[in-house]
Amino acid sequence: MNNAELIKITAAMMAGSKGLLAMDESNGTCNKRFAALGIPQTEVARRDWRELIATTPGLGKYISGAILYDETIHQKRKDGTLIISAIINDDIIPGIKVDTGAKAMAGFPGEKITEGLDGLRERLAHYYKVGARFAKWRAVIAIGNGIPSIACIDANANALARYAALCQEAGIVPIVEPEVLMEGNHCLKLCFDVTEKVLKIVFNQLYQQRVMLEGMILKPNMIIPGLQYAEQATVDEVADATVQCLLQSVPAAVGGIAFLSGGQSGEMASAHLNAMHVLHGAKLPWPLTFSFARAIQQPAMSIWGGDENNKHAAQQALYHRAKCDDAARRGEYDAAMEEA
Ligand code: G3H
Repeated sequence: MNNAELIKITAAMMAGSKGLLAMDESNGTCNKRFAALGIPQTEVARRDWRELIATTPGLGKYISGAILYDETIHQKRKDGTLIISAIINDDIIPGIKVDTGAKAMAGFPGEKITEGLDGLRERLAHYYKVGARFAKWRAVIAIGNGIPSIACIDANANALARYAALCQEAGIVPIVEPEVLMEGNHCLKLCFDVTEKVLKIVFNQLYQQRVMLEGMILKPNMIIPGLQYAEQATVDEVADATVQCLLQSVPAAVGGIAFLSGGQSGEMASAHLNAMHVLHGAKLPWPLTFSFARAIQQPAMSIWGGDENNKHAAQQALYHRAKCDDAARRGEYDAAMEEA
């Protein structure tokens, strides 16, 4: 493990006001999103979509790293060149999702444990060879009647920490993603409490597994009331609660924090990130940015709809969302940008 190299990659991923683009949906998840828009659920359609993203002109101005799925990191564009080459040529660092998905946790109805540790050392060595310099592992924690259990949080935190240690051994920066889900009718305070508990347990496990905090990135959820909760929070309330929760739970040495969007609209996710910087930017000990999938991709995917004729308009929409998120990281996002 080369600490200096890991810290250098982490710094490049957090550079300026850029952020990360998650385009690492598993085939199942990608197909589900395609099906909702009437796009064929085929390898060719997934290739076309990922190629559209990777060749969006100027995307590297706002995006420092892109998280890929196994299919995409090996996939070729229509012209026979690799998709990953288009990403690297735009000065975007390629990353790879390495967990193999969240599966039902035995004995704990309604809870999930993320799998993928078997053979991970060998897979990481392969991904490094083909160009990946960072990785992602996502654990999901649901809030509901009697859940999350401590057993679920502990098991997921231990897996996240073991994954992160293996990544650093391989010279790959780990993105550690413990996602507390937005589904449910819980209030903002409960989301805060559960997220705080999860983060504290995750960082305890990271410590035990000797993960170098400066060479890792945390990918958390924002603190938001459940989607079914009657009283939604204001943008400033979300920003205040999220920053407070992170300050209480995340060591200052961590290389960076990059949020997932969790199903928020693109505009909402930008507004929340922006408010965190406007209200609290001066007291943040770590770079705080975005690592969105749906909040960047979704409007563009709807415009594309699987039709090559819509490619240019879809790329413009993708570029626009990345630009808004880059502005949000500087605290300079304004809803008026959406009309421009
Ligand atoms: O693991 C989840 C993705 O990387 C982030 O996706 O922004 O749609 O929540 P999302």
